[in-house]
Amino acid sequence: MISRGSTVLAAAILAGSSVLLVRPATAAPQQEKQPVAEGYGGAVATVDLDASRAALGVLRRGGNAIDAAVAGAATLGVTEPYSAGLAGGGYIVYYDARHGRVHTIDGRETAPRAMRSSSLEGVPFDDAVTSGLSAGVPGSVAQWELALRRFGTLSLGQALRPAIEVASRGFTVDQTFHDQTASNAARFKDFTSTARLYLPGGAPPAVGSTFRNPELAETYRQLGRRGGSWLYGGRLGAEIVATVKRPPVTPGSTRTVRPGLMELSDLAAYRAVERRPTKVTYKGMDVYGMAPSSSGGSTVGEALNILQALPGVGAHEYLEASKLAFADRGKYVGDIPGVPLGQLLSEGFAKERACLIGERAIPAPAAPGDPDGSYGACRAVPQESAKPIPAEGPETTHLVVADRWGNVVAYNITIESTGGNGIVVPGRGFLLNNELTDFTFGPAPGDPNLPGPGKRPRSSMAPTIVLRNGEPLLAVGSPGGSTIITTVLQILVNRWDFGMTLPQALAAPRATQRNTAQTQAEQGFIDRYGPELTARGHSLVLNPEIGAATGLEFLGGGRVQVVAEPVRRGGGSALVVSGRR
Ligand code: DON
Repeated sequence: MISRGSTVLAAAILAGSSVLLVRPATAAPQQEKQPVAEGYGGAVATVDLDASRAALGVLRRGGNAIDAAVAGAATLGVTEPYSAGLAGGGYIVYYDARHGRVHTIDGRETAPRAMRSSSLEGVPFDDAVTSGLSAGVPGSVAQWELALRRFGTLSLGQALRPAIEVASRGFTVDQTFHDQTASNAARFKDFTSTARLYLPGGAPPAVGSTFRNPELAETYRQLGRRGGSWLYGGRLGAEIVATVKRPPVTPGSTRTVRPGLMELSDLAAYRAVERRPTKVTYKGMDVYGMAPSSSGGSTVGEALNILQALPGVGAHEYLEASKLAFADRGKYVGDIPGVPLGQLLSEGFAKERACLIGERAIPAPAAPGDPDGSYGACRAVPQESAKPIPAEGPETTHLVVADRWGNVVAYNITIESTGGNGIVVPGRGFLLNNELTDFTFGPAPGDPNLPGPGKRPRSSMAPTIVLRNGEPLLAVGSPGGSTIITTVLQILVNRWDFGMTLPQALAAPRATQRNTAQTQAEQGFIDRYGPELTARGHSLVLNPEIGAATGLEFLGGGRVQVVAEPVRRGGGSALVVSGRR
């Protein structure tokens, strides 16, 4: 158990069959990443020590949670460039302490105006990933500007300063960065700009070496001076469009690299959007999430509602609720008008879905329900024919920040695949995203997630903030494509139904059921639950690593516990402003 406020051994985390010993960090400067910290005056967790330090520095200098989140995200663009970057997108869920309100900002990439529902038909998925065609109009810079203008205290230029410093002075290459570069090397070498930046001397940078990105430092510097219009219609935007239309393919490369449809006018038309958060009440707590264009809030929310309608919650119920919520996500949720969000998140609909859950696993894929407002007797659920679902890795990233005023940020950022579309904008030091591969490629009549002009591909990102009695209690989120939804759901269930602490809830072995015949699970989960679940008709298949979350919890009296992933993906970094009140 956590021995609060102590620097000695503090948490014994049950992670599968092994026990991890974690010391909560105090505010003393850290040389190494530590996954748990407790204290006062502000807190941050990211996957990366440099990014956490950047955000913490902003908090220490009097910035608020939004300022720190933008600084942290921009720094992740330097040190985690294969997951995050200024040419990507993301979602911010923000608790504004002064007004006691939760806001969200959708900074999701959009499809160019020329994109049609058939534009991705017949394109092999892997070809689409490494192409100009999959690059969406970047959302992050517009999102940063909107977040800072609405809720921050810093200018964009000020918020970018820590990232500029890290890009200029460099950071130490760790195993994760090295391995992610190595696994991308075959496609990075096919683009002159990417090979020059990330394969210096023809190979991934060595673990322990210092990696500098002076071109990105200069891009950030100019962005700070010129503002987002430099990208959204200006010179930087023109260079992005040129790269998308004529990717800098290495002479002699045999790769088919499809050009994209993006025009400067698409960049000029881009807007980050404030949206009403999704909200469900679970065990008396208000759980706020991201509304469409993400399916994160609606799917986590529906699954929680279903669980709440059941007499008890165990591993079987967790998987079944997730299965049914994913069936409904597939049919009803996308960046389209008229998503029946109110009904999907209604108690009546949840009860109707929950009554399908019995002793035996529902055959999957299960058919979606009918969120029509008229709910009653239990309707049988036909099985549907299986559709392939793409493999999901732990790409993307999530950070949490709380400040001394009690503002809280949960922020998911991505460029989609590890390494995005693999194409660095020449001379600018950043990769483009391949977010448009999140669309359904089709043909798929009636699918809410087909591509369309200006449309945002449906996301699974699920930054989540929980309030109790109107006060912030917890924030959590994760990478992992559509497993983000199940990871966030499982952490909440671990915390509130299985009685774990937040560090235990993040570390515990995971399973992900997304309306597929087999449930992917980590080995520790299979060891713990395999026999009982198999006996009830579940089929578990190994997925070695699911998600890499960050979260925080208010412990009372202003004390915050902030938690990063302890092991997966190399682990993360949790920091607090002060160990003492
Ligand atoms: O928005 C989404 O759901 C994905 N583009 C996030 C990407 C991600 O987590 C990568 N995972 N496989």
